[in-house]
Formats: sequence, structure tokens, C-alpha cells
Amino acid sequence: MGELAGDKHVKYILSVEKKKDSFESVVMEHLRLNGAYWGLTTLDLLGKLDTVDSNEVVSWILQCQHESGGFGGNIGHDPHLLYTLSAVQVLALFDKLDVLDVNKVTDYIRALQNEDGSFSGDIWGEVDTRFSYCAICCLAILKRLDSINVEKAVRYIVSCKTLDGGFGCTPGAESHAGQIFCCVGALAITGSLHHIDKDLLGWWLCERQVKSGGLNGRPEKLADVCYSWWVLSSLIMIDRVHWIDKEKLIKFILDCQDTENGGISDRPNDAVDIFHTYFGVAGLSLLEYPGLKATDPAYALPVDVVNRIFFGRCST
Ligand code: FPP
Ligand code: ZN
Repeated sequence: MGELAGDKHVKYILSVEKKKDSFESVVMEHLRLNGAYWGLTTLDLLGKLDTVDSNEVVSWILQCQHESGGFGGNIGHDPHLLYTLSAVQVLALFDKLDVLDVNKVTDYIRALQNEDGSFSGDIWGEVDTRFSYCAICCLAILKRLDSINVEKAVRYIVSCKTLDGGFGCTPGAESHAGQIFCCVGALAITGSLHHIDKDLLGWWLCERQVKSGGLNGRPEKLADVCYSWWVLSSLIMIDRVHWIDKEKLIKFILDCQDTENGGISDRPNDAVDIFHTYFGVAGLSLLEYPGLKATDPAYALPVDVVNRIFFGRCST
């Protein structure tokens, strides 16, 4: 089996950041803050976050903040919970959460909670359990979970549970591994994992592993490296990761690398992108691949960053 081409991936991530006029950067223009989170977290997991000028990143992030307190995907873009979480996560990576006006960000998030406990992603009102996760993860990092109605937020997530033990984006919607990550993550962060039938959900999740060793997101779909994150992190949170073949999954992820120019693709021989590079490296980190920092499955951040947030500076 091949090895992780860590140095090549570092070069690839840094080059995506510099090539502002490349096709990928143009397509990703509106995803910039999410892209920054994927790229920078990957660098940190590879032990190379110091190759980036943190002051430059922090100043750009602050310029993405809207007067409402939320963050847009880039300077001048409309705010959304998805980008607000990425902004907070990146500031946490750099240990720069203190630049935030926490009350302002908290007020923005709190105003997006609906009467039934769900969250809208922005002022336009789309409701989805992804946004419940974004709100809960963000407020937990900011230590302001008490500013929302957590009980109602949990009740809403539980109402999105499906008959197969998984979760969908809204009540009645079908199970999807990405949505399961969001719901299990939010329940883990709020200490509410007892609402999950772990054996039933674990069974559905481990059935996502296909012959190649890769994982898919729903029955009958193709395996995709990003599900190494969505499925694996969920299995770890419910303590059922031993139900899949870890070695086969490691091989599948390594087979998706561009060993020449760096980067990881969704499946072998496809074009690489920064999204799948993150989920491949983060997946390998969850699988305890040597040489990578450990990742926290609920906060989607390196474990040392999460420890620094909750236990202070000295516990890395
Ligand atoms: C599938 O995406 C993934 C999801 C539905 C979950 C997305 C979760 C977030 C945005 C929360 C933040 C995440 C982290 C890691 C901090 P897809 O559109 O690729 O699904 P498809 O395979 O069905 O097309
Ligand atoms: Zn994918």
C-alpha cells in the first residue's frame, strides 16, 4: 500500500491559496471561508500551519464579518451560519478567538433559532440540521451555548431521526451520512447522545463500506473520500468504529492521492480538490494514521486545539 504524500499535499494547499485566478479558485470564490477552513485544518493536521501568515488570515476573516455579527464567505458577501462556523474554527486553529466580539457573533446565531428549536442558515430562512450543527458547534467553541434554547434544539434534531436510526435534514427526510454527522456531532457536543440507538445507527453506518474499502453516503451510491469523514466521525462518536475495516479504508483514501502534484480526490483517478484533500487527511487522522495530529470527531478540529479551548493553553 502507498504512503501519505504529506509534503505534496502541503504544497498543493499552499498553491491553491496563491492561484487566485485559477479555475478552482474562481469556482470556489463564494466558498472562500469554507475553503480556508478545509485547507488550514489540513495543514494543521499535517503539522504545517506555521507555513501560513496568521495575521493575514485573521485580518481577512475579520473583513468577512457583516455588521449583523455573522460572517460571509468572502469580503462583502452575505452572512451565513456555514461561514460563521468556518470563521470561528479558523480563529480557533490560530488561537485567535480573542479578536472576536463574542456578544455580536452570539446575537447573530441566537436570532437564527426558530420557535421549534431548529435553525435557519441565514435571514432567508432555509432550515436544515446542518445549521443546527453550525450553531451549536460555534456557540460551544465560544462558550455561549447557554444563549440558545439547547433543549429545544436537541428536540428538533431528535425529530429528524429516521426509522433506520440515522438523521435527515428536516423531519421526515431520508438518512444521509453528512446530515448524520451534523446531528450526532450536535448531540455529542450537547451531551445528548442517549437519544441515539447506537447499534441501529452503527449498523446503517458500517453498511456504507463497499468492496473497495471506501465509504458511500447512502445505499447504492459510489464510495467517496468525503464520507471517510462523515461516516467515520459518526461511528467514533457512537463508539462503533470497530464495525468497519479500517485498513481497507486507509488504502482507499491513499489510492485517491495525486502523488505527483499533491491533493486528494473523491475516488481513485479523479481530479483533486481542497475539500476532498481535507476529508482524506482528516479521515486518516481519525483512523490514527501515523504522523498526523489527532482530530476531534465532533468539533472537526485538531484535538490539541479543542483541548486549548476548553482546558487552557498548557494541555497540548
Ligand atoms: C454532504 O454533502 C454533506 C453534508 C450534507 C453535511 C454538511 C455539513 C456541514 C456543512 C457542517 C460543517 C462541517 C464540518 C466538517 C465542520 P454533499 O452535498 O457532498 O452530499 P452528496 O454526496 O449527497 O452530494
Ligand atoms: Zn465527496
